Amino acid sequence: RRICRDPATHQPLAYLRLRRAIRNIVEHRDIEPGQALPSERDLSQALKLSRVTVRKAIAGLVEEGLLTQRHGAGTFIAERIVKPMSRLTSFTEDLRERGLSPRSEFFERGIGEVTPEESMALNLSPGSLVVRLHRVRYGQDEPLAIERSVVPASVLPDPLLVHDSLYEALEKLNARPRRALQRLRAVSLNAQQARLLHVNVGSAGLSIERRSFLDDGRVVEFTCSWYRGDIYDFVAELQTD
Ligand code: GLP
Repeated sequence: RRICRDPATHQPLAYLRLRRAIRNIVEHRDIEPGQALPSERDLSQALKLSRVTVRKAIAGLVEEGLLTQRHGAGTFIAERIVKPMSRLTSFTEDLRERGLSPRSEFFERGIGEVTPEESMALNLSPGSLVVRLHRVRYGQDEPLAIERSVVPASVLPDPLLVHDSLYEALEKLNARPRRALQRLRAVSLNAQQARLLHVNVGSAGLSIERRSFLDDGRVVEFTCSWYRGDIYDFVAELQTD
């Protein structure tokens, strides 16, 4: 039997259809995180696809972190948020992909003169203006991270252009970052951070610093984030040279 393939990716169409179906289940929250996916047999019968196709699609989504498998117990919608480290995505995009609705609560969303430390991080000369965003990031009303971003005002002229997503605002200004350098470090969350993130003082957190660049090399953002260690997994694909 001839296998129909997607002309762009050359992946079998049945596989892609099933992946989309499972992704829809996750994104529309038809099954909640932590709950089991229907069995391979039920999925293959309902969608009239072979067990092999079903197994491959599930394996692909396990690799992406949307599903998890427990030996002998079945396949579940992942509870932890698995974030691939090699893709330059925003908090908003990461959460939407998992069917969670993102929201920001701002402590600061203003404009001011660059500090010496910020001018180093952003390659700006003293006296330049920068937009500062300080916010708690929520997914489905649960606090997940705290972020402090600094963006040159030459890129983002008005802080109020950021309603919820910084990258969406930058996209509209044709200034979406194209490349970034990121540093991850283990931290224990201090009293203020723990209170904002609804965890105990001293809980594990991940401090993430990101400097993002435009195509022409200008720095677009310098962001320090504190992600909850009890929720996030950062994964990367590794290759030999
Ligand atoms: C992640 C990154 C930040 C970036 C943010 C943008 O959290 N660690 O460096 O600023 O995404 O997300 P959004 O567009 O949702 O504001």
